[in-house]
Amino acid sequence: MMYPRLKLLRDLLSDDGVIFVSIDDNEQAHLKLLMDEVFGENNFLSELIWKKKQGGGNDSTNFVNEHEYVLVYSKIKSLFKINLDTQHILSDSLYPFKDENGEYGLITLDKSSIRQSDSLIFDIKGPDGKIYKPRIVKGKPSCWRWGKDKVRKDYDKLVFKNGKVYTKYYRPDGVPPRTLLADSRFGRTETGKELITSLFKESVFTYPKPVELIQHLLRISTNPSDIILDSFAGSGTTGHAVLDLNKEDGGNRKFILIEMEDDIAKKITAERIKRAIEKYDYKDGFEYCELDKPLFDEKGQIEETCDFNQFATYIYFTETQTNIDKKQIDKNFIGEYGETEYYLIYKEKMKNILDKKFLIKLKKTKNKKVIYADFCMIDEDEMKKFNIQFKQIPYEVKVY
Ligand SMILES: C[S@@+](CC[C@H](N)C(=O)[O-])C[C@H]1O[C@@H](n2cnc3c(N)ncnc32)[C@H](O)[C@@H]1O
Repeated sequence: MMYPRLKLLRDLLSDDGVIFVSIDDNEQAHLKLLMDEVFGENNFLSELIWKKKQGGGNDSTNFVNEHEYVLVYSKIKSLFKINLDTQHILSDSLYPFKDENGEYGLITLDKSSIRQSDSLIFDIKGPDGKIYKPRIVKGKPSCWRWGKDKVRKDYDKLVFKNGKVYTKYYRPDGVPPRTLLADSRFGRTETGKELITSLFKESVFTYPKPVELIQHLLRISTNPSDIILDSFAGSGTTGHAVLDLNKEDGGNRKFILIEMEDDIAKKITAERIKRAIEKYDYKDGFEYCELDKPLFDEKGQIEETCDFNQFATYIYFTETQTNIDKKQIDKNFIGEYGETEYYLIYKEKMKNILDKKFLIKLKKTKNKKVIYADFCMIDEDEMKKFNIQFKQIPYEVKVY
């Protein structure tokens, strides 16, 4: 089930993109091998461990399963750039001082272990004229962390205090993301469930992910204008997380959620996003689309059952990259985009002819007219006169 889907997801991923796949103990080992094959072992970034529940399980007769995995792969490792985890809580006690560059702590310039290099043992003269030496450990001097040249160059960065020499370390904007997601800030299954239940006033989905977990993954992996695709959308947590993050940082991330089950897609995924937008006053919206019958068989040949409307939808989208408005379809006219009108002549496969009789059906405008059919019987001059471009109906697509 997963192999072809992962292959397609890899094709859809941008070169600097990343994929997160959440999986539990039962399938983790199999998925890892599949991912290695599809994305390449060299693109493996991490296997995160997320603590999904807290407490309980004391009546269990076996291990109490408290975690799930999130496998992380890039498409091209050298192009993917991870963001710092800006929500990581750093203890205030580590940064008791403040100057014009921010909050900072002090760390001694001398090491607490015995000497590592003689060149790192020398006297430093303080601004007060006092001579400072590395501390004595087990009867022997330890050493400085900086060499003589660095001390000379960055002398003004040293802090002389209580008979010791220190350097400053500043509170960072964030830390590189960790692999263990055990903190409650990553949410638990229960918090995911509470959130969706509060939106629907009843329990509608069994194991939704918490928004907090997905938001963390988005924070460390996306830029504010990225596109996020979740091909197993379920309760729509990913969409909710994107909306919330956009509200928080003013970003313009877009999401695409795919859900296979009709009932879930309509009544839960889309409905949850709608309710979340209303309740939390999110600034973004979304478009709900249903997949039509497949147009092409596995050999890339058009399905015999394909009808006019399906062709029209496909052609309009490939021409304009936007969805057709079916209300606009009027006989052979299937819609317009910019200054181009689109027409389709289709009754039976390979029997559709663009001829002179058809010209009276065209709108009396100066717009360019792209007309799809199987054959064209109109001469060049006439085509120019009516501003027509003829295109062959695509009965085949390249299958990859
Ligand atoms: C475990 S749930 C995902 C839960 C989701 N992360 C959330 O927070 O709600 C998996 C969902 O994927 C859907 N699904 C399964 N196979 C699918 C497929 N091939 N394409 C799209 N959706 C699929 C299921 O109907 C189910 O709703």
